[in-house]
Amino acid sequence: MNILLLNGSPNPDGNTVFLADAFRKGAEEAGNKVLELQAGAMDIHGCQGCNYCKGEGAGTCIRKDDQERVYQAMKEADVIVLASPVYYFMLSAQLEAAIQRLHATGIPGRIKKSALILSSGSDDVYDAIIMQYHMIFRDYCSMQDMGIYTAHGAQNKTKSKASELEAFGRSIGK
Ligand SMILES: Cc1cc2nc3c(=O)[nH]c(=O)nc-3n(C[C@H](O)[C@H](O)[C@H](O)COP(=O)(O)O)c2cc1C
Repeated sequence: MNILLLNGSPNPDGNTVFLADAFRKGAEEAGNKVLELQAGAMDIHGCQGCNYCKGEGAGTCIRKDDQERVYQAMKEADVIVLASPVYYFMLSAQLEAAIQRLHATGIPGRIKKSALILSSGSDDVYDAIIMQYHMIFRDYCSMQDMGIYTAHGAQNKTKSKASELEAFGRSIGK
C-alpha cells in the first residue's frame, strides 16, 4: 500500500517524528511504501474560503504553496496516517490547514484507511482531536480506522513507544 504520513510537527528531531519514524520503519518492513510529508515545517497557509476551487478553479486551489505536495501525495495514497503534536488540545495549526485545504480537491475515495499518532506533554489531552479525527475520516469519508497511538511526557522517545509504533506499522499488512 502507499501510505501518506502527514506529520504536523515543525520539529525535525522532535517527539512526533520519533513516533512517526518508528511507525514508518514497521510499515516499510511489512512491504509498504511510505511517503512522509512534514506539513508542520512546510509553507502551508489556511484556506481563504474564496471557493475559487468550486468554480473557475475546478478543483484546484488558488493559493500556490507547499499544499501542492499534499494534493499530489493524496492522489497516490491508499492510507493516510496523521501524526501531530498536541497544541492546545488540537492538531498543530499547520496540519489543520493542510486538512482544511482539502476543501479544493476533496479527499480521494481510494484512501480507505486511516490512523492517528499523537505526542503531547500531558495525558488526557486527546479527546477533541480524536473526535475530529473520527468525524472527518471515519464518518465523513467512510475510512477504516487502523488505530490511534499516543505518547505523553516521559513516554516520548522511549524504546517501548518505538516498539509499539513499529509493531503497529508491521501489523497493517500491505
Ligand atoms: C504551542 C504548543 C502548545 C502545546 N499544547 C499542549 C497541550 O494542549 N497539551 C499538552 O499535553 N501538550 C501541549 N504541548 C506540548 C507538545 O504537545 C509536546 O511537547 C509534544 O511532544 C511536542 O512534539 P514535537 O517534539 O514533535 O514538537 C504544546 C506545545 C506547544 C509548542
